[in-house]
Amino acid sequence: MFGKKANKIIALFIIGIMTIGFAGCSNQTGTKEGKTEIEKIKESGKIVLGTSADYPPFEFHKEVNGKDTIVGFDIEIAKEIAKDLNVELEIKEMSFDPLIMALQNNKIDMVLAGMTPDKERAKKVDFSDKYFFGKHYIVINGKNKDSIKTLEDLKGKTIGVQKGAVQQKIAQKEISGAKLKPLVKVPDLILQLRSNKVDAVLIEDIVAKSYVENNKDLVLPGIEFKDKEGGYSVALRKNNKELVESINKTIKRLQKEGLIDKYFEEANKMSK
Ligand code: ARG
Repeated sequence: MFGKKANKIIALFIIGIMTIGFAGCSNQTGTKEGKTEIEKIKESGKIVLGTSADYPPFEFHKEVNGKDTIVGFDIEIAKEIAKDLNVELEIKEMSFDPLIMALQNNKIDMVLAGMTPDKERAKKVDFSDKYFFGKHYIVINGKNKDSIKTLEDLKGKTIGVQKGAVQQKIAQKEISGAKLKPLVKVPDLILQLRSNKVDAVLIEDIVAKSYVENNKDLVLPGIEFKDKEGGYSVALRKNNKELVESINKTIKRLQKEGLIDKYFEEANKMSK
């Protein structure tokens, strides 16, 4: 009726309208129904956490009031996230590996599972700021507690580290002029420290604390290093800016109120 050329123009016109229509429906943070993820969560009254509860003190099973419950550091953080969004927290347990896929398939809304925000995963999901950094502590012999108080005092000292562990890199980079003594086993590092063959030992968080608890001649002078490459973040579906921002706000608040450290200590005690 209109001829070939006119048909083509009409067809292009229709495609054009459809494209504009779709683009209008799904902007950066919006969904097809025009609602942002955060709006949908608030409307449903709950946020669904996916986690793999095999990782104490971060998430693990424990009997609470006679009932098997998932508890831990990450769970406390997730509760605070839900609280700030004014919704309930629902926990879905699964194995660690499919967590990212479950997020992509809308089975869960967020992941807190001691998850390190590595580059590979960041292609598939978005990550919040880190809410937890691995920490490493300097342990010394109690006899030296007056001479080793700050990072400066470690200058040129002999530092014991586990061979091949991240602490070896950290000590090398952060303690100026340190002479490193890498040993294969941590208990050997402790022995060397107790017999004054090394001036200090650099060990990971909970492990350092547990050695100091069990060896009364050792102390933590409060010299600590953050593990900048490690650490944990909350994983979220991509293009979900408002939710990421809200969660980052919660994380900042918890840091400011000292709750991160508190929850970690509590979870640690609970897991023993
Ligand atoms: N941080 C490591 C990672 O992101 C291990 C986490 C394992 N978490 C767990 N709940 N099992 O790969």
